[in-house]
Amino acid sequence: MAAQTNERRSRAWFGATGRTGMTHRSWMRNQGFGPDVFDGRPVIGIATTWSELAPCNAHLHRVAEAVKRGVWQAGGFPLEFPALALGETMLRPTAMFYRNLLAMEAEEMMRANPLDGVVLLSGCDKTTPGLLMAAASVDLPAIMVTGGPMLNGKFRGQDIGSGTHVWKFEAELKAGRMTPEECFFAEGCMSRSNGHCMTMGTASTMACVAEALGMQLPGSATWPAVDARRYETAQEAGRRIVAMVEEDLRISKILTREAFENAIRTNAAIGGSTNAIVHLLALAGRVGVELTLDDFDTLARPVPTLVNLMPSGKYLMEDFCYAGGLPVVLRQLAEGGLLHNDQITVTGRSIAENNANAECWNRDVITTLEEPFQPPDTGTAVLRGNLAPNGAVIKRSAASPHLLKHEGRALVFDSPEEYHAVADDPDLDVDPTDVIVIRYAGPKGYPGMPEVSNVPLPAKLLKAGVTDMVRICDGRMSGTGYGTVVLHVSPEAAVGGPLALVRTGDRIILDVPARTLHVDLSDEELERRRAEWTPPPQRYTSGYAWLYTEHVTQAHEGADFDFLRGSRGHAVPRESH
Ligand code: FES
Ligand code: MG
Repeated sequence: MAAQTNERRSRAWFGATGRTGMTHRSWMRNQGFGPDVFDGRPVIGIATTWSELAPCNAHLHRVAEAVKRGVWQAGGFPLEFPALALGETMLRPTAMFYRNLLAMEAEEMMRANPLDGVVLLSGCDKTTPGLLMAAASVDLPAIMVTGGPMLNGKFRGQDIGSGTHVWKFEAELKAGRMTPEECFFAEGCMSRSNGHCMTMGTASTMACVAEALGMQLPGSATWPAVDARRYETAQEAGRRIVAMVEEDLRISKILTREAFENAIRTNAAIGGSTNAIVHLLALAGRVGVELTLDDFDTLARPVPTLVNLMPSGKYLMEDFCYAGGLPVVLRQLAEGGLLHNDQITVTGRSIAENNANAECWNRDVITTLEEPFQPPDTGTAVLRGNLAPNGAVIKRSAASPHLLKHEGRALVFDSPEEYHAVADDPDLDVDPTDVIVIRYAGPKGYPGMPEVSNVPLPAKLLKAGVTDMVRICDGRMSGTGYGTVVLHVSPEAAVGGPLALVRTGDRIILDVPARTLHVDLSDEELERRRAEWTPPPQRYTSGYAWLYTEHVTQAHEGADFDFLRGSRGHAVPRESH
């Protein structure tokens, strides 16, 4: 690659003389662009994860139109291009399996094309981290516009939340309190507008995290997808990216260690998804920021949960928006000494300046630091012990307090399917104090680290009125899920983590206040079992699944590909002809 220079990189294409310049310009003109667009103005790529197969992102072409208006207004030249659209609800084995592929292909397209800055259009869970990781490894000026949440679900006069109510309805169905017909009707009531999940699931979390990192305009995370102000904000983002190119405000200037600390604390304050941990670790790896799993525990400890949203609370993103949205939370954190106030953002101003005038309109939805929805140290905890030497995670705000210190008999399953095959058996040997272990569901083992950790309880216990049990898994949990679930156990079973050595009947000791997770076995016994253990055979000899399973890192490292860590910059590649 050619040396990186400060000259606007699109000039290497459109400003070229002779055959080269003619080639670059002529074919673009087949879209009806006049010659003036090649006059040296900033060329802005709009990376869209639009797809009808990614329903949460299906309206992004409209968001892109709004962005383009802004880019033209500010004197830029906008060009929309597709990035891998990852729909959480459709993709198998998991959307997470493809997050790194999105990050890889979008990185390459940003660098290979004549772009001076990029706007990142995302929505559904993995599209936000995937595009951020891509942009971080290219290090051009970049601004994110998430697509916004769906309107509140409405069923029988009640608000119902994406995902969270799927788990609830399933439990009601299994317990015989809802009919299949009622559930079928309810599913249509849950998703009733464009947008991503409107609980504080992973999509809403990552949208808020992107805003807290400084990558979105203030308020951008919470406007509903169908709200006119989402489009106004998108237009503003289009104007802003042109200025960012002129200021050379690149993503590496925004994504500092301090920005990540702000994001971690914001995630605690919003009761955000555990998935944010994996994504932020991966993103930090792209920009060379030292971030560890333990940072998510120590930095979050002094932060109370301020936002009363499902799955931890009762409201939904629409309510959060009307209450003032994330700017209120960020203002409160800033004034409470819990943010790095001077951290620069895409506005060119600091995070504290951006949100200094935010006002709260509903204290039931966004509480104060003095009287929080949940006290400090009730968010995500990081556990260690002989069952998770490299860490595991539990979301306490979604767990049952009486199970946070618990000892029980392990009930071990080598896959979620193995568990589901017996979960409804009325004769299953299980009682509510047992600990359900689901393993070989990690990044490499599944592959793709599925959201299976919060398996539904055995039907016979549900019918008996049991609402929660301890579950332990090397996979993830949907951001909309709840329960006393220990997840992201690292190392995973498939690479020989101690989780692979547990047997049904072993005693498992969980002590969240002490941050420990143990199996009551001696080191000698664990070693003896390890000697007998054989790793599962590599199932793939070619294709993307082979690449993935050979190169994916563990959960505590962000589950990125080992070879994608770091930034590879935006130097202009050699000519193609
Ligand atoms: Fe797309 Fe939840 S399924 S955001
Ligand atoms: Mg999800």
